Amino acid sequence: MSVPPDDAIVISSISKVYRARDGQGKHTALADVSFAVPRGAMFALLGPNGAGKSTLINIMAGLVVKTAGRVTIWGYDIDTDGRQARRAIGIVPQELNLDPFFTPRETLDVQAGYYGIPKAERRTDEILETVGLADKAGAYARTLSGGMRRRLLIAKAMVHNPHILVLDEPTAGVDVELRQSLWETIREMNAHGQTIMLTTHYLEEAQDNCETIAIMRHGELVACESRESLLSRLSEKVVTVRFSEDMPLVPEALLPFAPKVMDARTLAFRVRRGDGEIPALLTALPTCGATVVDLSTVEPDLEDVFLRLTREDPVVVPI
Ligand SMILES: Nc1ncnc2c1ncn2[C@@H]1O[C@H](COP(=O)(O)OP(=O)(O)OP(=O)(O)O)[C@@H](O)[C@H]1O
Ligand SMILES: [Mg+2]
Repeated sequence: MSVPPDDAIVISSISKVYRARDGQGKHTALADVSFAVPRGAMFALLGPNGAGKSTLINIMAGLVVKTAGRVTIWGYDIDTDGRQARRAIGIVPQELNLDPFFTPRETLDVQAGYYGIPKAERRTDEILETVGLADKAGAYARTLSGGMRRRLLIAKAMVHNPHILVLDEPTAGVDVELRQSLWETIREMNAHGQTIMLTTHYLEEAQDNCETIAIMRHGELVACESRESLLSRLSEKVVTVRFSEDMPLVPEALLPFAPKVMDARTLAFRVRRGDGEIPALLTALPTCGATVVDLSTVEPDLEDVFLRLTREDPVVVPI
C-alpha cells in the first residue's frame, strides 16, 4: 500500500471469550470492542486490572486468537495480510519474555534476522543508544535490571523500524528517572511520525503525554476521545474558601451553594462551570458577613474521569 492510511490501527467489533479451564468457567475478556488509532497519534489505552487491554494487544500481536471481529494494521487485515501487518507494527508485550542467555546486541540481531533485515541495514547500535542500553550491549539479559529488560523489549520492537509501536505497560516497574527518559524516547519517536499506542496505570503520564485516550472496563470500551473532551466530561470543580475567623454556622448567603464544612474557617463548594454558579458564588461571598482570606480551586483530572467511568457504581467526586 503506497498511500499511508488515515488510521494506523482499526479495531472492529472484537470479541474474545477465553475457554473454560482449570475449573474456571469461560470468560468474556472483550465484548464487541471497536475503535481506531489515527496515524501519527500518541494513544493511551487505559483500564483497571483485567479490563482486557493486554488481550486486545495480544490479539494484534497474533499471540491470542480472537473469537470475533476484525483488526487492520496500516490498512492490512491481520487475518488475510498477516505478513504486511506484522511488518508495520512493533509490539512490546507486558510480560518480560527475553532469552536470558542473549546479550542485548544478540537479542536485536536475532530479531533483525527474524525480519530478514540484511546485516548492512541493521541499526543495532543506534537503537541500543536510543533506549540507553549502549553500555550494556554485551551483558547477558539475565544480568539486566527489570527496567533495563523493559528497555531491551522496546528496542526489540524497534528493530524493523515499524510505522506503529504498541507498548503494553512500558513504564511498569521502572524507576522515576528511567520513566522520564523512556517517555522522552517515546515522544521523540512519535515526533518523528511513528504512531504510538500504549497502556499504563500511571494516569498522570497518559494525561501529560497522550492526546487521545481510550478507557476500557470489563472488556468493553467506555470512552475513546481526545484528552480535552474527556476532561471536560467532568464539568464540576471544587472551590475551597478560607475565612479570617471561626464561624459557628454557615453564613446564610452561602447556604444555597450547599458547602461542605471542612473546618471552622473553611468551606468547600462544588460548582459547575458554564451555568453561572461560579459568578453567583463570587457575588455572594463578599455579602456573607465574613472575610475571605484564601481561595483555591481544584480542576478535575484524568484520574477523576477514569474513576467515574470505571467504578462499579457511578459515584459523585467527593469534596
Ligand atoms: N489465557 C487466559 N485464559 C483465561 N482468561 C484469561 C487469559 N488471559 C487473560 N484472561 C482474563 O481476561 C481478562 C482480561 O485480562 P487482560 O490481561 O487482557 O487484562 P488487562 O486489562 O491487560 O489487565 P492488567 O491491567 O492487569 O494488565 C481477565 O479477567 C483475565 O483473567
Ligand atoms: Mg495487561
